[in-house]
Amino acid sequence: MGKDVIIACDFDSAQKTFEFLDKFTGVKPFVKIGMELYYAEGPEIVREIKRRGHKIFLDLKLHDIPNTVKKSMAVLSRLDVDMTNLHAGGTGRMMSAAIEGLTRPDGTRPLLIAVTQLTSTDEETMRADLLIERPIDEVVMHYASVAKASGLDGVVCSPLEAAKVHGSCGKDFLTVTPGVRFADGDVGDQKRVMTPAEAKKIGSDYIVVGRPITASADPVAAYERCVREFVD
Ligand code: C5P
Repeated sequence: MGKDVIIACDFDSAQKTFEFLDKFTGVKPFVKIGMELYYAEGPEIVREIKRRGHKIFLDLKLHDIPNTVKKSMAVLSRLDVDMTNLHAGGTGRMMSAAIEGLTRPDGTRPLLIAVTQLTSTDEETMRADLLIERPIDEVVMHYASVAKASGLDGVVCSPLEAAKVHGSCGKDFLTVTPGVRFADGDVGDQKRVMTPAEAKKIGSDYIVVGRPITASADPVAAYERCVREFVD
């Protein structure tokens, strides 16, 4: 299980997405479809990318009452995605309901990953806006342990947190890590970044890479460089 590069297809239309994916002739990368593309194009974009032979991480970050999440996860499971996610803040009961909804009659299901605290939320904002007084590290590790106890497969986290998550939840609990940049590349708006090679060393299971590949003059070469540094 694991060790793969997932390309964040943060495009606002199917046309731009396919123009991008058409550049990959020899390989079929694992791709992440987020809210922007899904809300623009609907479930058909998932079916079409799947038909083209890609694995899909559907990044819709569900957070609602357990019954609604369970029924929505059943719909996503029928779309045959390989990985999807939710907010751990929805509680353990919501996460267990999500697992039930995702599980197909034959017992199989997509991987389910939790978002703990968004990396855009810092400790000060957490205290001021959410009235959470504990240190953010402790909050992230606690949410990860509740996710694990609810039957989830892993968490989305910064590569800097991956080792700690593996330390407290076990090495089989997956860490899916964005915030990846090449050593000689643009950091953009990401604050705490790691190279693919560093993410490998620290034990990330999947890296999610967007602009270093999608905005590159040669996306295929950039993707292959990620694979060389992270997987091979
Ligand atoms: O372009 P870039 O490599 O920064 O893209 C990273 C992807 O991972 C984006 O789709 C972004 O929304 C997502 N992401 C992130 N940080 C998180 C969670 C998700 O950058 N904490």
